[in-house]
Amino acid sequence: MAKYPHGDTKWFKEARFGMFIHWGLYSLPARHEWIRHYEEITDEDYQIYFDMFNPDLFEPEKWAKAAKAAGMKYMVITAKHHEGFCLFDTKYTDFKVTNTPVGRDLLKEVVDAFRAEGLRIGFYYSLIDWNHPDFVIDRRNGPYRNLPEEEFKKHNENRDMRRYAQFMRDQVTELLTNYGKIDILWFDFSYPNKEHPEDITLGKGHTHWESEELLKTARAIQPDIIIDNRLDLPGSADIVTPEQYTPGKPMQDEEGNPVAWEGCQTFSGSWGYHRDESTWKSEEQCIKLLIDHVSRDGNLLMNVGPTARGFLDDRAEKGLGYFAKWMKYHSCSIYGCGAAPGLTAPDGCRYTWNPKTNRLYLHIYSWPFRFLELKGLGGKVKYAQLLRDHSEVLRDEASAAITGKAGTDVGNISLKLPVQKPDDAVPVVEIILKEPLA
Ligand code: GLC
Repeated sequence: MAKYPHGDTKWFKEARFGMFIHWGLYSLPARHEWIRHYEEITDEDYQIYFDMFNPDLFEPEKWAKAAKAAGMKYMVITAKHHEGFCLFDTKYTDFKVTNTPVGRDLLKEVVDAFRAEGLRIGFYYSLIDWNHPDFVIDRRNGPYRNLPEEEFKKHNENRDMRRYAQFMRDQVTELLTNYGKIDILWFDFSYPNKEHPEDITLGKGHTHWESEELLKTARAIQPDIIIDNRLDLPGSADIVTPEQYTPGKPMQDEEGNPVAWEGCQTFSGSWGYHRDESTWKSEEQCIKLLIDHVSRDGNLLMNVGPTARGFLDDRAEKGLGYFAKWMKYHSCSIYGCGAAPGLTAPDGCRYTWNPKTNRLYLHIYSWPFRFLELKGLGGKVKYAQLLRDHSEVLRDEASAAITGKAGTDVGNISLKLPVQKPDDAVPVVEIILKEPLA
C-alpha cells in the first residue's frame, strides 16, 4: 500500500483544461500579487487595500460563463494567497473578506457560480502567510525579509509556527467543510533550505507546515480530493505542478513514478491583476500551450487575475476568447486525450491521442505546402479529416512498388493538405485508426 492515500485523478486527466483565479487585495495596487514582498509593505501600510476592497462590479457568473465557453472543466481559486487575506469567512482571523467594505463571503459566490456552469472546484491555499502573527518571518520572502538582524529578531519574538500550523489545519477544515465537494486543494509552496533545513528563518518545509498532519486533515474530510506536490512531502502528491514553463515530455513524481501533471500558466507576466504589465500571449501562443500540455499527458491551468472591481478586464476576456473560438471546433483533440504512444509527430506538429475512441489528432503548427508525411502510419489509417469541419483529408499510402510518391517512405503515409491553411490558430487533422495504438 502506498504510504500516502491518493485522490481521484481520473476526471482530472479527462478534463485537461482549467481556470486559475488569483484574486485578493493585491488586485488594488495592481502591481503583482507579490507586491507586499517586492515593495516591503508593512502591515500598517497594507491595511489601506483591506479598507478599500469593495468590488462593485463583481459578477462571478460572468467569470464562470467565460471559463465554460473557453472549454475549461474546472477552476482553482486563491482562497488565501501569500498576503494572508482570506477571500472566505473564517473563524480564525479577522483579515478576511467579510470584514472589508464588501462584507460578504465572495469565495462562496464564486463557487456557486462555477458549479452552476458545471465546473469542478479547487481551492488554492497559501502555506506562506505574510500577515499571520505566528508565521515566523524569514529572509527568503515577505515584507520584513531585509530587516536588520536586531529588528528581525524582535519581529519574530512571539511567533510560533506550531500555532500557525494549527491555524492552517483549522482553515483547511473550514474550506473543506463549508463549501460542499471540493475537487482540488492546491497548497503553495515549500522552500526548505537544503544546507540548513532546521533554520526556519532561511526556508520552510514539511516540518514547519506539519505537512503530514495537514494532509491527513484534508483527506479525512474529503478522501478523493486531489492534492498538489508543494507540501514538501515526497510520495504524497496526486499532481505535479510545473509553473510558467512547459515540460518536454510526460512527468514523474518525486519518486520517479508517472504522475498526473498540470502546468499553470499566465496570459501575461503576473498572476494577480497587473494594470501595466503587457507581455500578453498571442492567440497562437495560447492555443499551442494547451496542445503542448495535453500532447505530453498534462493539464493546462490558465490563469486570470480579476480587477479590484471584480470583473475580468478586456485583455483577459480576449485571451479566454481565443480558447473559446478554438475549442468550439477542436475540443475532441483535448478532452480525454494524452500523448500518442510510440509515434513521433512530424517537425512543427504535435500529436494527441484518445485511447477510448482510438482517434489520433495531428496539430499542425507550421502549415506545409500540400504534403505532410506521417511516420509509421502506413496501412494503419482508416480515414482522415479536418477536425474543424469534418472535411476529408486525402492521403497517399506508400507501397514497396511506388516508394517515393510525394516523397513518402514505406511504412509511412502522406496527407494531402489544402494549399491554404484553414483559418484556425492551429488546424487539426483527426485520424481514425484501424487498430488501437496501444
Ligand atoms: C508561485 C507564486 C504565486 C503563484 C503561484 C502559482 O508559487 O508564489 O504568486 O500563485 O506560483 O503557481
